Amino acid sequence: MPKKERVIVGFSGSDDLALASAISKKAGGILAIIEVNHFPDKETNLRFKTDLKGKNVFIVRSLDDPDRKIVEVLLAAQAAKELGAKNVVLVAPYLCYMRQDKRFKPGQAISSRTIAKLVNLFFDGMITVDPHLHRYKSLDEIFKKSPKRLTAINQIAEFIKKEIRNPFIFGPDFESYQWARAAAKIIKCDVDVLKKHRYSSDIVRIKVKEKLDLSNKSAVIIDDVISTGHTVIEVVKDLKALGAKRIYCICTHGIFAEDSLKKIEQFGAKVFSTNTIKNRVSRIDVSGIIAEEILKST
Ligand code: R5P
Repeated sequence: MPKKERVIVGFSGSDDLALASAISKKAGGILAIIEVNHFPDKETNLRFKTDLKGKNVFIVRSLDDPDRKIVEVLLAAQAAKELGAKNVVLVAPYLCYMRQDKRFKPGQAISSRTIAKLVNLFFDGMITVDPHLHRYKSLDEIFKKSPKRLTAINQIAEFIKKEIRNPFIFGPDFESYQWARAAAKIIKCDVDVLKKHRYSSDIVRIKVKEKLDLSNKSAVIIDDVISTGHTVIEVVKDLKALGAKRIYCICTHGIFAEDSLKKIEQFGAKVFSTNTIKNRVSRIDVSGIIAEEILKST
């Protein structure tokens, strides 16, 4: 497809703009920066300044801080369609609300379904990276317009190979086995997947199963998301008790709520994430895999 028929949209003044710009360079599309302003009552005012007629439009917005960003992407999608875009695809490197995949307590909203309904209604497709799939086996269960699930695990494994000596990988819970095992297979190193009991968002219990000799190893915890940090901190504590000297926590999506990045570091672990969400440790770049998918699909 000619470069000028592909438009990659980034939001002005946002953290995601650098990622949108890197994707547009790699996928060879026009970068359209959508102007974001707010009315005095805090409603959002968006404005495209690029011609979208007949174009394949990719709206890049990671959905951390979800309640604000969801409204922005829906406003942008509707406007793009009204301005004549041929196709409007949501590129949400981090996809929000996926952990709300069941009614954990009576009367609770299953929020992932609501988000999926909105995406199905407003977009012609969706691309995301390492979505949290636990009770849903596949994105197709709730997203209807050929959702594309990418993974950053090759990028994470290459990073570990380059930066970390003699790694021993740990997955902190059952869901993390897919990333932990895949990384260990690429790196050709040891791996252990642990059992987690979560009692609330703040109370998590995990036990490293057996006595391991980690004296010569770098213990590397891999997870899809670090939010409050309680999951990885529990593992870090155990690994320290086992004598691990070098401990790393690596995730695809570094949400780092409640200042958790600092807290994890205070426990003596080094932390890295991909740049699906920009932060001071997002050293692993996913723009290439997203650009590749865009090139494939248009
Ligand atoms: C849950 O199963 C995920 O894979 C992560 O382990 C979890 O979301 C991390 O959350 P937190 O950092 O708040 O413990």
